[in-house]
This record gives sequence, C-alpha cells and structure tokens, in this order.
Amino acid sequence: MQQPKRPPQLGEVQETLLIPLYARAVETRKRHGMLTDPRAVEMVDALDYDFARFDGATSLLGANLRTLLFDTWTRDFLARHPTGTVVEIGTGLNTRFERLDNGTVHWIDLDLPDVIKLRHTFFEDTDRRRMLAASVTDPTWTDEVRKLPGPYFLVAEAVLIYLDEEQVRAVFDLISERLPGALLALETAAARMVEQQDSHDVLGKVTARMRWRCDDPKTVEHWRTGIQLADSCTFTHLPTPMARHLSLTYRLMLRTATLLKRRDMEAYRFNLFRFSG
Ligand SMILES: C[S@@+](CC[C@H](N)C(=O)[O-])C[C@H]1O[C@@H](n2cnc3c(N)ncnc32)[C@H](O)[C@@H]1O
Repeated sequence: MQQPKRPPQLGEVQETLLIPLYARAVETRKRHGMLTDPRAVEMVDALDYDFARFDGATSLLGANLRTLLFDTWTRDFLARHPTGTVVEIGTGLNTRFERLDNGTVHWIDLDLPDVIKLRHTFFEDTDRRRMLAASVTDPTWTDEVRKLPGPYFLVAEAVLIYLDEEQVRAVFDLISERLPGALLALETAAARMVEQQDSHDVLGKVTARMRWRCDDPKTVEHWRTGIQLADSCTFTHLPTPMARHLSLTYRLMLRTATLLKRRDMEAYRFNLFRFSG
C-alpha cells in the first residue's frame, strides 16, 4: 500500500534543499538525462510539497550541472585519498555518497536540525557515514570531523551563499584553524546575481534569499593567510572531462546560453579553496 505523503516541515533557508532534490528527480525521469538518481525520485514522491512550481525552470539544469561538477571534484579527491573524509556541509537530501562511495571513505552529512530530522526518515547512519545536526557556523561540527581520518574534503553546494559575508568569513576562519589542509568546494554569486534574485526562475518561488555577494572569489584569499583558490570555473568553462560527458543537446544548450547570457552565467562561479596545513 502506498504511504501517505508527508509535508517537509522546513524553515525558510532549509526549504531550498527541495530545489536541487527536484532537479535530480526531473533529470532522472528523462530518457537521456545528465544524471540518474532514483533516491531523489523516491523522496520527491514521498513529500507533500508543490514541486510543480519549479517545472520548466532552466535553473534546474544548472543545479544538476553544479552537482556533477562537485561530484567530479569529490571523485578526484577520493581517487587521491580513498580513505579520507568527505563532509557534505548543508547536505539537504543530497545523494552524493550514494553516487561516489568507494567502500573506504568516511562521510559526514551536516545540516540544520530540521533537515537532519527529515533526512533520518530517508537515510540511515552506518559505520562510515553519519548525519550531524548543527549549523556550519557552530564550531562543534569540526570536533566530529577531527575524529575521522584526514585529509578532509568539504563540499558546501548552494549553502554559504545564503549566509552573510561575516558568517562566511567565520566559517573560513573555523576551517583554517580547525581543519588545516582541507579543501572546500563552494559557489559564489556576484552582486548583480544577488540583486536580481527576486526574478530568478526558482529562487523567486521560495522565501529564502542569497545574502553573500562575491564578485571575485580570488579576493577571498586576502581574508587570511593560508587560503588559496585552487580552482574556479563557470558554466561557460566547465572542466573538459565533465563537459565531454554531457549529451550533444546539453552541450549545444550551454554553448547557446554562453553566447546569449555570458555575463549572467559568469556571475555564478564554482570554486575550490585549499586551506594550507
Ligand atoms: C539549496 S540547499 C542545498 C542542499 C544540498 N547541498 C544539495 O545540493 O542538494 C541549501 C542547504 O543549506 C542548508 N543550510 C543553510 N544554512 C545552513 C547553516 N547555517 N548550517 C548548515 N546548513 C545550512 C539548508 O538547510 C539546505 O539544506
């Protein structure tokens, strides 16, 4: 018998997790989608939420491209450090572990308490993977990470843009002091993107708003010594192996969008920071 759908019961910023979740479910239902995520389909089907408000938004494709890029960076890390630890900061209902588990990685899924409560209804802790309820701004999560084998790869996909710059700086300080040697993947949104978000095709449909404006991720290196921008790209210049993996349809879409909307696309950057040990 089919279970009744349950309302997600999430705070404002927490609700945004439903956007990438839906993006992955929509892509999975396509015949030639860029990714396959049956768990996302299952979770969307189980939740009582008006996902249809996001239908047709091109940003859903953008969310999936971002996910694939962050998967690529995480996979590269695991190829070099198969027994290291990955921390998915602001994990939402992300399924990166399901895609990338190599049988030896240690993994923490960190998010605010209401998200972790919801996440527990779909996922179980194991000996190598566990959920942690805390804000990324609360230093205690780093204590849990430090108990696990290094090196550490931290992924904050669509998370820190919702914080004030002051809070983002505090997170960078925390990582510098408590997790030296770590790598952190995150995106930055330029001021013009943050200012135009009310008319954004998916963000305009939820209450949460991006707050951190960052026109140039290179400037973050000046926040304190030891922070290095190891890689940075936009949708217009995705790493070649990843772009090659996309179908011709998606490559043509990206090329067209690059020609017509280059400035908009370059306002959103994907970055990999290294914290020197
Ligand atoms: C757009 S969703 C992204 C979810 C997930 N990273 C993904 O790509 O599917 C933003 C996530 O950041 C989380 N988040 C926002 N502020 C946070 C904070 N201070 N500490 C931890 N997580 C936070 C939200 O609860 C939400 O799950």
